[in-house]
Amino acid sequence: MNEKAKGIYVFERYYFMMTFVTINEVKSYISNFRFQEKFHDANPSGEKKSIETILINGKEYPRFVNEFWTSKQRKGNAIHEISYRACYKPQLPRFFINCLSKPHDVIYDPFSGRGTTVIEAALMNREIISNDINPLSRILTEPRLFIPTIDEIKKRLEDIPSENQIEPDIDLSMFYHKKTEKEIVSLKAYLHERYELGTEDDVDRWIRMVATNRLTGHSSGFFSVYTLPPNQAVSQESQIKINKKRNQIPPYRNTKEIIIKKSKSLLRNISSEKITLLRNIGKNALFISEDARSTHQIPNNYVDLTITSPPFLNIVQYSKDNWLRCWFNSINPKEIEKKITMSKTIKDWTNVMETVFKELYRITKVGGWVAFEVGEVHNGKTKLDEYVVPLGEKVGFTCANILINSQVFTKTSNIWGVKNMDRGTNTNRIVMFKKEG
Ligand SMILES: C[S@@+](CC[C@H](N)C(=O)[O-])C[C@H]1O[C@@H](n2cnc3c(N)ncnc32)[C@H](O)[C@@H]1O
Repeated sequence: MNEKAKGIYVFERYYFMMTFVTINEVKSYISNFRFQEKFHDANPSGEKKSIETILINGKEYPRFVNEFWTSKQRKGNAIHEISYRACYKPQLPRFFINCLSKPHDVIYDPFSGRGTTVIEAALMNREIISNDINPLSRILTEPRLFIPTIDEIKKRLEDIPSENQIEPDIDLSMFYHKKTEKEIVSLKAYLHERYELGTEDDVDRWIRMVATNRLTGHSSGFFSVYTLPPNQAVSQESQIKINKKRNQIPPYRNTKEIIIKKSKSLLRNISSEKITLLRNIGKNALFISEDARSTHQIPNNYVDLTITSPPFLNIVQYSKDNWLRCWFNSINPKEIEKKITMSKTIKDWTNVMETVFKELYRITKVGGWVAFEVGEVHNGKTKLDEYVVPLGEKVGFTCANILINSQVFTKTSNIWGVKNMDRGTNTNRIVMFKKEG
């Protein structure tokens, strides 16, 4: 078939499917994969359901559009509520873990961020591997596998001095009241010393994680005066401007009370069985801080399912956004900046991702899967899924299909920091790859 004839064929088929698709057709179309029930169950009103066929490099791929998961449906566990730039909701990894894995399988995220994939996987009794070049990722993830009691947290906070003689090495007066600043500096020094001496324990790590998450924000639940959330920290100069504009001076905030309150909130709907399960999974968990292109710590043919969302272009500047979190954790943001992938063009980005796929192919078991989530860029004109398909296939994966989870826009579903309010929907595009035998 020549290209033109193929185009007409695809168009006709696409048109047919868009017009007459029935659940049975969809079921048979995807019967090799375990999505049919999910496709059927999701969004019972059926309004958004559609199946398309897209042609990439002369090959056809099915693309399913549906509201596979929503924020309201089966709400995520509160333990996920750690803010991180460009994180996805736990419903996304849960959907794929349910469809494509069984208990004790190995689930991996090479761009782990706040650890949404691995925390959800651990809650579902899967073994986990978490990688992220940014050390903040581990700081924000690992403590949620080893959850202390509220009493242990309270007791430890009582033991940590609220003041010491150390002056902050940077000017933070635009963010914090003098007394709050003293508490933060004292906590930072305490945690640093415990880490250096090798005496840091689960309770210290939990406190470090919660404090890191409470450094800045817009409400009295944060240590700072009104500012942007901790995952998008503004510079000192910008904060001075915000203070002038809002005519505000930093009020005193009791950091220890805030840490206890946030800890209670994170633990508000987790059962003691799940806490035990997380701890057991945590004991075998592997945390890596490497470039996703070379993760030699993971053996060949080891992972059952990878669920991930890579960085894209420089829309999201992880290290700039995280400078204050880095300061608190004695991390040099410049070092991270150098390592983090911030591609300026799609060409640069696909070059990096091709090597990532090579590595994913090496570590994936035969019969294993990769769910690779990408966003829309350039106001939806550039559909990254179409760039990702050939990358995975080139290294040996088979692209099974693309899923598009289309859902009504909600405040927190603004992933990638890209405003898509005008269309009233939020779209996750997930390319599904299988390593065939
Ligand atoms: C889109 S975020 C992932 C968010 C994650 N899905 C979550 O829910 O929190 C991408 C992550 O990739 C990390 N990253 C950037 N370049 C990397 C690289 N070359 N290797 C490994 N991680 C990288 C960033 O630090 C960031 O945490």
